[in-house]
Amino acid sequence: MTKQILVTGGAGYIGSHTAKRLHQAGFTPVVLDDLTLGHEWAAKFGPFVRGSIADSELVKRTLEQHDIQAVIHFAASSSVGESVSNPRKYVHNNVFGTVSLLDAMLEVGVKRIVFSSTAATYGNPAYSPLDEAHPTNPINPYGESKLYLERVMHSYETYGLRWMALRYFNAAGADPAGELGELHTPESHLIPLCIEAALGKRRLQIFGTDYATPDGTAIRDYIHVFDLADAHIKALAYLEGGGSSGACNLGMGKGFSVLEVIRAVERVTGLTVPFDPAPRRAGDPPELVANPSKAQATLEWHAQFTGLDQIVETAWGFFKTRG
Ligand SMILES: NC(=O)c1ccc[n+]([C@@H]2O[C@H](COP(=O)([O-])OP(=O)(O)OC[C@H]3O[C@@H](n4cnc5c(N)ncnc54)[C@H](O)[C@@H]3O)[C@@H](O)[C@H]2O)c1
Repeated sequence: MTKQILVTGGAGYIGSHTAKRLHQAGFTPVVLDDLTLGHEWAAKFGPFVRGSIADSELVKRTLEQHDIQAVIHFAASSSVGESVSNPRKYVHNNVFGTVSLLDAMLEVGVKRIVFSSTAATYGNPAYSPLDEAHPTNPINPYGESKLYLERVMHSYETYGLRWMALRYFNAAGADPAGELGELHTPESHLIPLCIEAALGKRRLQIFGTDYATPDGTAIRDYIHVFDLADAHIKALAYLEGGGSSGACNLGMGKGFSVLEVIRAVERVTGLTVPFDPAPRRAGDPPELVANPSKAQATLEWHAQFTGLDQIVETAWGFFKTRG
């Protein structure tokens, strides 16, 4: 069984939670993170190497020194809006960085990778919930960068690469023990924004209140970060067991509107979330919900955190721990 796993971006939100779950499952997560967005305190479940995925010599040295057999690759720039205003950053950090990482892996004989992909590879939904057969027509450079990398990994099968791209919908929640959580600067994700609003630190803006949804606000599929983390561990086992490369959706298969999330945060915190309606954002579809059947069948993975309030409780728990 593979024991030493390189976790790129393991000081970030999903990466740090995955490193914790790997550690709890008996693996040694070796975190490589340049700390542009992550937190060194969150990289505490195994060796930490500070540096970039684009530093080929560092990557090769790390893979060899720690006897790594597989990589879980989170490190990326992942803001949709920024990718529109600064696409070059997404080509450099996501595309060039990941190609450099893949080349370094192959040079030292590491041939398995689990890759953070995204629902943004699909673009505007033609139907809902989305399965993997849905056409991939990304509508922003972030989604394009991730889809292109899925294609690169497919081409690199020629060199013996085996890969699994996990297309996440909306990662949410936090380590229920309160040790880790979501701390992005600037924050763009709905649940932490709602909590900050409930605590009087901001007012929430609702982008679009006139969608063709039951309450007019956009619907998204929220999946708990530990459920995401566990899917990566299942994907490692699947690849190690000879499973074929490809892409899988990761979501709950159930959507919640912005207003439903606000009400959940109010129920859990006992506080009021002040909000203002704002115009729709370009490229925001009314509804993005996953069909997770493929992940359930091929990875034998099932979400454990199935209620919105349960997810919000863990996020709130982390905020309370931080004080
Ligand atoms: N959060 C979500 O809802 C979501 C949804 C879909 C996909 N994703 C993908 O999941 C991954 C993790 O997302 P997150 O929310 O944890 O983001 P995050 O910003 O919290 O974590 C990313 C980490 O990667 C590091 N990093 C960035 N570029 C690097 C580089 N060149 N070399 C080394 N480290 C680098 C950052 O310092 C950070 O710690 C990303 O690839 C993202 O595109 C996230």
